[in-house]
Amino acid sequence: MKPPETSTPDMAVNLAGVRLRNPVIAASGTFGYGVEFADILGLDRIGAFVTKGLSRTPMEGNRAPRIIETASGMINAIGLQNVGVQAFVQEKLPAIRALRNTVCIANVFGFSVEDCIAVIRVLNEVDGTAMYELNASCPNTKHGGMVFGTDPEALAELVSRCRAVSTRPLIVKLSPNVTSIALMARVAQECGADAISLVNTFVSLAIDVKTRRPRIANVTGGLSGPAIKPIAVRMVWEAARAVRIPVIGMGGILNAEDAVEFMLAGATAVEVGTASYADPRAVEKIATGLKKWCVASQVARAADLTGGMRLD
Ligand SMILES: Cc1cc2nc3c(=O)[nH]c(=O)nc-3n(C[C@H](O)[C@H](O)[C@H](O)COP(=O)(O)O)c2cc1C
Repeated sequence: MKPPETSTPDMAVNLAGVRLRNPVIAASGTFGYGVEFADILGLDRIGAFVTKGLSRTPMEGNRAPRIIETASGMINAIGLQNVGVQAFVQEKLPAIRALRNTVCIANVFGFSVEDCIAVIRVLNEVDGTAMYELNASCPNTKHGGMVFGTDPEALAELVSRCRAVSTRPLIVKLSPNVTSIALMARVAQECGADAISLVNTFVSLAIDVKTRRPRIANVTGGLSGPAIKPIAVRMVWEAARAVRIPVIGMGGILNAEDAVEFMLAGATAVEVGTASYADPRAVEKIATGLKKWCVASQVARAADLTGGMRLD
């Protein structure tokens, strides 16, 4: 008997012209520079990975404590610690290039538009990254990051000027700390973004009631993990309805069904962040689980899930 067509579903998705073998991407800041995970999971079994945010010069980040666990989530205020784009190119990129079969997305940020442009120009000159994800949404820096993500005019300038210099597809990562995510999504699209990704973390505060001090040295930090998932799904749905470009959804994904939920809300692909802290193989497990879910649910093409929420 002929096996059903869905026994080998087509898991590939097209993300702004870049083909991903499946829609499950490791999120920035939770997967190092990707190569550190080469011995832990099959990098050729995940859709792509996003590097830690890269800045013009190296950054040490904030002082400790900068990560705490909360109910169904975590708060972090790492402060964008990273090796800087030059060291990334010299020390990390050769190993990334050698992976060949894996899509690497470079996460870019800066304290000014010029900073972001400088990082993009360095990356433009070298092979090894397929796309850029512009972080317009970090809640843990005093300037830059979140200002871009919460002020439509600042976002417009950032996106249009970065788009003008980028030789690769540009994903703009939006802040959830806004009143209208649809407005910010439209601004990103109108200024040339090839895709948008959301959500970054939610600004949050936890207080130690014995010491009466904030539990994070930075006082506030970004909340991530399952605690934010229903809010993130709602925001992805609102953003996806507002734009024509692809949307990458994230926020609290722990398993394949969570990934499906984001896709039904309108995401073309998903990113998995905090789950990698609990299980470093989470991204691969979710990618494999998504394929199994498609088989069990008789979904022939993963791409058909996008925007499939029923409202009738
Ligand atoms: C420890 C930590 C570091 C992060 N660093 C970055 C970063 O450098 N750049 C960025 O765009 N997002 C960063 N993020 C945000 C994640 O990529 C993701 O948007 C967010 O955590 C929500 O997804 P999750 O609930 O699956 O973790 C970081 C998140 C965590 C938990």
